[in-house]
Amino acid sequence: MEWKDNALYLIDQTALPHEKRYVKCRTYKDVARAIKDMIVRGAPAIGVTAAYGLVLGAAEYEGDNVQDFLNHIEVVAKQLRETRPTAVNLFWAIQRMLDVACVNRDKGVDALRDILLKEANSMAQEDVEINRKIGCWGQKLLKDGDVVLTHCNAGALATVGYGTALGVIRAAHEAGKNISVFADETRPYLQGARLTAWELMEDGIPVTLITDNMAGYFMKKGTITAVIVGADRIAANGDVANKIGTYSIAVLAKENNIPFYVAAPVSTLDLSLESGEHIPIEERNEREVTHIGRIRIAPYGVNVANPAFDVTPHTYVTSIITELGIVCPPYNQSLKKLFDKYNIC
Ligand code: MRU
Repeated sequence: MEWKDNALYLIDQTALPHEKRYVKCRTYKDVARAIKDMIVRGAPAIGVTAAYGLVLGAAEYEGDNVQDFLNHIEVVAKQLRETRPTAVNLFWAIQRMLDVACVNRDKGVDALRDILLKEANSMAQEDVEINRKIGCWGQKLLKDGDVVLTHCNAGALATVGYGTALGVIRAAHEAGKNISVFADETRPYLQGARLTAWELMEDGIPVTLITDNMAGYFMKKGTITAVIVGADRIAANGDVANKIGTYSIAVLAKENNIPFYVAAPVSTLDLSLESGEHIPIEERNEREVTHIGRIRIAPYGVNVANPAFDVTPHTYVTSIITELGIVCPPYNQSLKKLFDKYNIC
C-alpha cells in the first residue's frame, strides 16, 4: 500500500496473479469498500488500511470544532469497524488512531489531521519492522532442508511488507537455509493459489501448490516437516483464529508429529477473550463457494455455508512467533507475560 497525493493506493488483490493493478482510495468509504471486497486482505494489512481510512475521513471534515471533529471520526471508525469482524488488528488500529486524536485534542483540527496521518505512517513503517523481527525469531525454528506447509496468505500482501508466516520463511531463505514451501490453495477464496504462490515465486523461493485436501497425504509421506500459518485473532488461552481450514491442518500436523507454528504480531492478541470460542467468525457470500472465479461449479439452489475462518485450539499450537519472541505453552501465562512487556515497551 502507498499513501500518495492525499490518497491511498492499494494493490488490487482480487486481480492477482493475472494482473497487477492498483485501486485508488480517495475517501474513507472507498477504504471501507476495499476492505469489505477484499481488494486488501490479511489482518495486519486491514489494520493499517483502516488507519489510512481514518486519515481520509478526517480530511472530509470541514469545520474547525474539535468535539465535532472527534464525533465525525468516531462515525468513520464505526463504518470501518463494520467491514470485517474477525481480524482484531482492524479494531486495534482504529482504536490506536482514535486514542491519538483524543490525547491531542487541545491542538485543534488542522493539527489533528496531521497527527493522524503521522500515526498511520508510523503504523505502516512499524508493521514492516515487526514482520522482520517475527522473521528473525521464527527462522531459528527452521533448519536447512525444511519443507514448510502454509495456508492462506500471510505474506507481504497480507501486511504492509515482508509478511508474518511468509516473513519467517523469507528470513530463513535470506539466512541461506534451503527452505521450500507447500502452499495450500485455500478454498474458497484461493489466497494460497493466487497470492502465496505468486509472492514466493516473485522472490525465487521454491513453492509447490497443492489443493487443501492433499495436505494430509504429504504429511503422512514425510514430505512436510513444519507448518507455519498467520493469525487473525489469538485469544488469551492461545486459541488461534485463522483462515478456514487451518484447524484441519493443525490436527493433521499433530497426528503426524509435525510442529505447527503461528506467526503473528502482538497486535493480533485479544486477551479480552478467554478462549477462541468467543471470536466472531465472518460468514461470507455463498458465491465464493458455488463459483470458482466467474464459473459456477455447484447446482442452482444448493444450500451453502461459507465461514471465512476457524479456530485452532491452543493444544495444537507448538509455539507462537511474535516480534517480541517465541511464546510456548501454557499460553494463558506466556501470552499475558508478553502482553505486559508490550505495554511497557
Ligand atoms: O480472509 P483473509 O484473506 O483476510 O484471511 C487472511 C488470513 O487468514 C491470514 O492468514 C491472516 O490474516 C494473517 S495475515 C498476516
